[in-house]
Amino acid sequence: MIKNHINRQQVHRGSFIYIVTAISALGGLLFGYDTGVISGAILFIKKRFMLSATLEEFVVSFVLVGAVIGAVVGGRLADRFGRRRVIIVASALFACGSLGTALALSVAWLVAGRFVVGVAIGIASFATPLYISEISPEDIRGKLVSFNQLAITIGIVVSYLIGYALSSSGNWRLMFGLAAIPSSILGIGMFFMPSSPRWLVSRAMMDKARTVLEQIRGTSDVDEELRGIQEGLAQQSGNWKALAGPLLRPALIVGIGLAVLQQITGINTVIYYAPTIFQFAGFQSASTAILATVGVGVINMVITIVAMQLLDRVGRRPLLLIGLAGMIFSLGMLGFAFQLPNLSKAMGWVAVGSLMLYVGSFAIGMGPVFWLLISEIYPLKIRGLAMSIATVANWGANFIVALTFLSMIKILGRSGTFWVYALVGIVAWLFSYFLVPETRGRSLEYIESHWRSGGHPRQMGKK
Ligand code: BGC
Repeated sequence: MIKNHINRQQVHRGSFIYIVTAISALGGLLFGYDTGVISGAILFIKKRFMLSATLEEFVVSFVLVGAVIGAVVGGRLADRFGRRRVIIVASALFACGSLGTALALSVAWLVAGRFVVGVAIGIASFATPLYISEISPEDIRGKLVSFNQLAITIGIVVSYLIGYALSSSGNWRLMFGLAAIPSSILGIGMFFMPSSPRWLVSRAMMDKARTVLEQIRGTSDVDEELRGIQEGLAQQSGNWKALAGPLLRPALIVGIGLAVLQQITGINTVIYYAPTIFQFAGFQSASTAILATVGVGVINMVITIVAMQLLDRVGRRPLLLIGLAGMIFSLGMLGFAFQLPNLSKAMGWVAVGSLMLYVGSFAIGMGPVFWLLISEIYPLKIRGLAMSIATVANWGANFIVALTFLSMIKILGRSGTFWVYALVGIVAWLFSYFLVPETRGRSLEYIESHWRSGGHPRQMGKK
């Protein structure tokens, strides 16, 4: 079995790795901004184009259709042309889509623009963590990859704030158009960033891989790491069959399972519908609803920072399990609060507190851990493809939840809906407890060799 090949003391880390991470994480920022911005913009778009309810839903959710398609096509491209180039393509699509929607003169044009933005989101959502994971040393990989999740949460908060700031003028074009700024920085920045050293090795570009490793590790002592990557690669057959075969099937199940569970435990009903939920809880005024929504976004962001500090210390599994337990508890409480026919003021506060606890619990576990794990558990030769499969499952499930939330409330009632999410949370906890591996402090090559030797997922973290 391949050993964990970087000696901690050996790793001299300059600030370069942080610069590379920060630039590429702009992909996450755009993911968050472009999914969040629609909630502020839609009010004005509805008026401008006199949208029916169906057309409104179409405009809102078409971005998710684009994301599914972006994730489908992006995986193969990332394996073939490299992670860096694929992120550059995504940045160009982000810029075109943002400017396109900003200038839209018809509904069809608007929907087409949102679709292009969606494709960019679909690509960036997996290519960014993939790229960061492959450039990171294993002992800080959790933190670095989760910069992406932090950037998503920052993008969401910024989109709320800009929506709020521009609401008096109703300038929805500017809301969309502003995304062209980070898109350009991402594209130009990535142009100067190195390619993933692991991808370079997989394309037999050894000299380049060595140069990049020396640059990002800040030392010329990279032989061992390079050898580890090569050895791992030599033992892989990187095709579909291998991914669905008995050795890698557990990894495939973990990725797809977490992808779906991350969404069907309901996070985006809160991210997209927070003001509605606050109104259910008896907080009627628009300003309270906005304030509370920003509050949700800020908690999401702050707790993600806490998670980043803990992922490489306590590990991925404990955070995932604790976070899910918090989500189950808070969803149960939400259901309980809404059970009463007339929510008293006190119960209204219980509902708000539960909502905040729910978001914080997501941010400590499921939020960062899902994207981190899928960037770690797949073999190099098919990492892009495998990640894109999990990402498609994530966006597909996101789409289904967005379409069904309001109908679920109609059919099951508010309590019933939150209790269903709580039940799904219990399934997610059991799934994670029995199937999710611990990848803390393990090199990507070690993780691959663990699957190849037929090891059980839960044995991975054990010395
Ligand atoms: C999820 C998104 C969600 C976001 C909220 C991400 O990890 O994939 O669907 O909107 O977290 O922070």
